[in-house]
Amino acid sequence: MILHTISELKEYIKNWKKKGLIIGLVPTMGALHEGHKSLIEKSVGQCDKTVVSVFVNPIQFCPGEDLEKYPRTLEADNELCENIGADVVFAPSPREMYGEETILSNDFLTYVIPPYFYVNKLCGKSRVGHFDGVCTVVNKLFNIVQPDYAFFGQKDAQQLIIIKKMVKDLNIPVEIVSCPIVRESSGLALSSRNKYLKDEEKDSALALSKILFNIKACYAKGITDIEALKETAYPYLNETHNLEYLEFLDAETLKEKVIADNNTRVFIAVKIGDVRLIDNITLGVR
Ligand code: PAF
Repeated sequence: MILHTISELKEYIKNWKKKGLIIGLVPTMGALHEGHKSLIEKSVGQCDKTVVSVFVNPIQFCPGEDLEKYPRTLEADNELCENIGADVVFAPSPREMYGEETILSNDFLTYVIPPYFYVNKLCGKSRVGHFDGVCTVVNKLFNIVQPDYAFFGQKDAQQLIIIKKMVKDLNIPVEIVSCPIVRESSGLALSSRNKYLKDEEKDSALALSKILFNIKACYAKGITDIEALKETAYPYLNETHNLEYLEFLDAETLKEKVIADNNTRVFIAVKIGDVRLIDNITLGVR
């Protein structure tokens, strides 16, 4: 069932809360794939009621990014959610989420701003303001749905860490459930933006997971020097790849690592043509 307004959704939430039901929220921007499916399945398995939000959040896109062309497939998304057993797809319009004056000008919106330490690196460096938009919309969704659990994928590990920090700092009464990355058999991490890749670019995209798997294998053989591990990436890169970052950070805190250890997460972002892809892996067993 698709609901487009906050007031309709709130009626359901009120009834569920009255009955003491456990509510799960899976926030998404739609164009659902197997990665989202795994989050929804987890919520349906763990909670009495599952809300999947489908909202292409305009305030987390930077100028020049793909807001207009971001894939919108609401009917198919709803079918997938119903097949898995989700109870509601919440698909508000930007006007419904942010109100008339905010649509006219961002100056009227109260934002949730995550700490500079967490956003001044990885995707936050090139996507200035992106995580302000993410935290603001996720906070709004938490307030609307009042979920007991909210499910996020490790594919967007920086986002996941920032949301956990927001929940802790603002005492938001929700438990964040972190879900593993889902990959194609080729190794490519699933992403709604994979739809933009042309066939030949899809081959190039395999470099990301190959680099990460190889770094993990080198670490397992005993290499802990980060520069040496970084060096192993270059043979996988060619002129089709524009490497934005390859960083070794603490998996939970995003602090810089001096040497690689089991708590290290390796983050990579590469642009192939116009398509920006990200991936990550932990070096320890997780
Ligand atoms: O990861 C996403 O799809 C989005 O950033 C989220 C969490 C749904 C917020 O718009």
